[in-house]
Amino acid sequence: MTAMPALSRRLAQLPIAATVQMSIRARELRAAGHDVLSLTLGEPDFPSPPHAIAAAHQAALRGETKYPPNDGIPELKAAVRRKFLRDSGLDYDMKEIAVCNGGKQVIANALLATLDPGDEVVIPAPYFGAYPLMVQLAGGVPVFAACDQADGFRLRPERLAAAITPRTRWVMLNYPNNPTGAAIGAEDLQALAEVLRTRPDIWILSDDIYEYLLFTGGTAPTIAAVAPDLRDRTLTMSGVSKSYAMTGWRIGFCGGPARLIAGIVNMQSQITSGACGIAQEAAAAALDGPQDGVTAQVAAYRRRRDLVVASLAEIPGLSCHVPEGAFYVFPCVSGWIGRHSPAGRKLTTDEAIALALLEEANVAVVHGAAFGASPYLRLSTATSDDILAEACRRIATFANGLT
Ligand SMILES: Cc1ncc(COP(=O)(O)O)c(C=O)c1O
Repeated sequence: MTAMPALSRRLAQLPIAATVQMSIRARELRAAGHDVLSLTLGEPDFPSPPHAIAAAHQAALRGETKYPPNDGIPELKAAVRRKFLRDSGLDYDMKEIAVCNGGKQVIANALLATLDPGDEVVIPAPYFGAYPLMVQLAGGVPVFAACDQADGFRLRPERLAAAITPRTRWVMLNYPNNPTGAAIGAEDLQALAEVLRTRPDIWILSDDIYEYLLFTGGTAPTIAAVAPDLRDRTLTMSGVSKSYAMTGWRIGFCGGPARLIAGIVNMQSQITSGACGIAQEAAAAALDGPQDGVTAQVAAYRRRRDLVVASLAEIPGLSCHVPEGAFYVFPCVSGWIGRHSPAGRKLTTDEAIALALLEEANVAVVHGAAFGASPYLRLSTATSDDILAEACRRIATFANGLT
């Protein structure tokens, strides 16, 4: 017998994320002696707040090392409650708040708790690459609603309406957006709310993980606050990963109707149990503590956005939406499709362009297809001004060598 234990069909649906693939290839090239600049990962390059680190240290010394409650420690839930009130005017009861192992687990738990096989989830494209895979893992079917660069990558109400079918169970919203950096105003959210009012059986996810990283000032508007009549079927999600440079602490949180929150907590209790209590203490300190670190980081991301957008504007064949938030720039590379790279490769797709940029110009970026929009590239600006300036110079040299 040569038979081997099988891996699941579910696993076979899961590709390695393009962001991870590109950073692995970048690491290989670096190990081979190439001076590779990586603009691939959506991870702040700043340290976590010192008061959050101190709070974690004290929690560990106090012996907060046991299983934490599945729904989150009361201290963090209270801090999340204050945060929702302060930033969005959303008043969630403690039973309407849950803490999970990162923002991603909020979404995964919510989908697992609500989707039956064949249920559809409307995902505006371009999207965070994990969304459709999480939907599929939960037995659902992703349905994409295209958002155009000409519309500032905002979801138009008629596109939302066209994507909704009798099987739709969720609509996902994410502004400021990964990968485009697009933000949305309260008026545009109202127009989407108008469409959603026609279908009271649909859940709404507001992924507000980049809510503080907004270059127009303040905190991004969120649909449950803009359209309070939708509050009881909206899951408002955020976390400390992006706003507080705390990706590795794995703390995300959400506010929503108590029965959905109970489902999320139940799902989580079977899979991971509650999130690390020490990290939760750190997250509470970040939410309640001084916010000047966030303000300084937003200023840095804004400066870097300006630098990258201005540099890309000089490069022939590229066109670029000016991001209103987050830390990504998403240039369209349609002017390069069909041309040849300086080393003579035919550039037929954005994936081919990203690979040629990596191997010929030693700049690692992620191709738009990984986010459901082509031909685009995503450049993360979560790295130093010097690296960004040099990366843009290399991209310009590459572009000038196209034939
Ligand atoms: C749109 C979006 N939502 C959620 C997440 C996940 O955040 P966390 O690190 O809290 O799991 C990310 C991270 O890249 C993201 O870009």
